[in-house]
Amino acid sequence: RRCIYLSRHGESEFNLTGQLGGDSNLSPRGDLYAHKLPQLVKEAVGDQPLTVWTSTLKRTQQTARFLPYRQMQWKALDELDAGVCDGMTYEEIKQEYPEDFEARDANKFEYRYRGGESYRDVVARLEPIIMELERQENIMIVTHQAVLRCIYAYFMNVPQDRSPWMDVPLHTLIRLEPRPYSTLETRVPANI
Ligand code: G3H
Repeated sequence: RRCIYLSRHGESEFNLTGQLGGDSNLSPRGDLYAHKLPQLVKEAVGDQPLTVWTSTLKRTQQTARFLPYRQMQWKALDELDAGVCDGMTYEEIKQEYPEDFEARDANKFEYRYRGGESYRDVVARLEPIIMELERQENIMIVTHQAVLRCIYAYFMNVPQDRSPWMDVPLHTLIRLEPRPYSTLETRVPANI
């Protein structure tokens, strides 16, 4: 049976400073995850063929760089665009754009960053990815938290407006096996 594997990129430098977006490198701990990932994937996938999809951002490609499978990069897998808030921390956003901070809190799915995206926008741009995923064999997606929350909600049959609250932790391989009436899920933590 075919499976879809999901992983966030390893911890990045921006994850450490609490900054949104950007195109930073992996932290040392994130790099440890990149080194550990091939074994984790091998244990889950066995000898079946696999194709790895990443975003166009460095932290996803650095995370996938040791995986011995065909790789493809998709712009549509890039992280939710925080617009003018790109590179800021939540604390800075609260100071500089207090109304925006509240508006997002009130409706996280619909809130669109100034000059950026909402979760609803991300769901819309993921449509071609989802279509392609439905046609493909085993795919592993190494991408970003907000994007993975939307993909995860779709395959778990969770209403799309619940996407912002899906729990997709760092350094964890998620295996989804779509079945006719539900999707089987397994999570493998890397313990780093
Ligand atoms: O901005 C993108 C983050 O990965 C998602 O975090 O909980 O603020 O949407 P969030």
